[in-house]
Amino acid sequence: MYRRPRRNRKSPVIRSMIEETRLSVKDFIFPIFVIEGNNKKEEVSSMPGIYRHSIDLLLKEIEECMNLGIKAFDIFPAYPEDKKDKYASESYNPETFYLQAIHQVKSAFPEACIMTDVAMDPYSSDGHDGIVENGKILNDETLDILGKMAVAQAQAGADIIGPSDMMDGRVAYLRESLDIAGFKETSIMSYTAKYASAFYNPFRDALDSAPKAGDKKTYQMDPANLNEALIEAELDELEGADFLMVKPALAYLDVIKLLKENSQLPIAAYNVSGEYSMIKAAGEKGWLDSEKVMLESLLSIKRAGASIILSYFAKEFAQLVK
Ligand code: PBG
Repeated sequence: MYRRPRRNRKSPVIRSMIEETRLSVKDFIFPIFVIEGNNKKEEVSSMPGIYRHSIDLLLKEIEECMNLGIKAFDIFPAYPEDKKDKYASESYNPETFYLQAIHQVKSAFPEACIMTDVAMDPYSSDGHDGIVENGKILNDETLDILGKMAVAQAQAGADIIGPSDMMDGRVAYLRESLDIAGFKETSIMSYTAKYASAFYNPFRDALDSAPKAGDKKTYQMDPANLNEALIEAELDELEGADFLMVKPALAYLDVIKLLKENSQLPIAAYNVSGEYSMIKAAGEKGWLDSEKVMLESLLSIKRAGASIILSYFAKEFAQLVK
């Protein structure tokens, strides 16, 4: 035998020399939930180890993560039902706690990279990402609200705006709204290929943001489709997105690879709540070694072509490699 692939696997040193993919804390954006109030830290029941923090404790959590080397955060707000309405008006109320949280985080940690979420669902009494009228999600009317939301978030200090709503034309609309308001340097990470997935349930528990009626299939993509991902990617590029994102990550590694091969923009992938909870649950039952499965899963996302990984595992990963 001339060729013996096992020779390159014979020792830890050789294995590490030929390693093609390496994870680093710098690859991660850590999604964090914020709630109104003081001294509150509530665990999300379907996401062990993940909490909703009031602003004071959010600042502590971010400081801890910064010390572990995580420098990028995606902050999501959980609003009580009485703050929600049909038009998500609370989302651009300058006094609202989410905008205050962004402002306080940026003031305390100017070097941190703060990403914010643009979609109506946390503020919508219908639990949808757009305006609902007679059971339909209105596209163009929703853009106006998303534009106000994005400008308010940029004003509060967001470095990256993350439109997760999947309305048509939103990247161009947000780009123009931000530019007109003077936020030419605020980046857009578009949720380019966001699928209508059953893996989002724990996130909807965390925010209490599940749709009150119907599903999200008229705006989020069909898990059966790849071509649509290319169409969305082409539009997002033309409309001025700075990053393209695929979501979820693990069940869509082929989509990550496809976008990586078809775009020069950096590709991000969102390792979503359900992907996190499955691994945690199996680990708690003793059915899997959750730490090893976490590392293998995160590696697969990077190997597929994502240079940025949004993951609830970010902090655990950082603690592990520290
Ligand atoms: C809301 C939004 C969702 C997620 C991120 N932004 C849920 C949804 O679209 O229903 C899911 C994140 C996760 O599951 O971790 N537009």
